[in-house]
Amino acid sequence: MFAIISDIHSNLEALTTVLADIEKRGIKTIYCLGDVLGYAANPIECLDLVIDKTEICLMGNHDYAALYEPTNFNQGAESAAYWARKVLEQETDHEKSDKRWRYLGQQKMRWTLETKLKNVKATLDFVHASPRRPINEYVFPDDVYTTTGKMNALFERVKHICFVGHTHLPGVFLEDPDFYTPDELGGKYPIIPDEKAIINVG
Ligand SMILES: [Fe+2]
Repeated sequence: MFAIISDIHSNLEALTTVLADIEKRGIKTIYCLGDVLGYAANPIECLDLVIDKTEICLMGNHDYAALYEPTNFNQGAESAAYWARKVLEQETDHEKSDKRWRYLGQQKMRWTLETKLKNVKATLDFVHASPRRPINEYVFPDDVYTTTGKMNALFERVKHICFVGHTHLPGVFLEDPDFYTPDELGGKYPIIPDEKAIINVG
């Protein structure tokens, strides 16, 4: 069993609460879909915890912004990215500093896991944003009604299951296209052979 977390955005209180819940459930393997940085007050503490506790962490647009440059950010988000960069640069322990920058620099944009979930063979893709543009593209629930062409193009790039974050709106997109909130699904989505899904973990 594994847990997927995403969009921590330097929020240490939220991250420690979620990690404690994961530990309470006895789950040892954690994957992170990125955006460790941005917005809140504890970029370093959050990054260190992610490095320590997760098996893999994908590159999010806010991580990219702190490492390279902000792309289509509003003023607040851009300031937060530059501030996170400054805080990371202020580290006087070179070993710690190198470890963090190297980790950010080696984050993947996409990662695939072939596995079995409850005896169902599953191909799991992990990205921060969307299967088409893994760092920056927003996939909103409304897209299933307003831009079905976009949804078709996204599902063409999905082999089976694709986990995303980025919008902070949890739920499951199916190929119809359709979108189901966690409430509508009773908090569960069974992995079905040959049924494609884009699952936003929130
Ligand atoms: Fe994001």
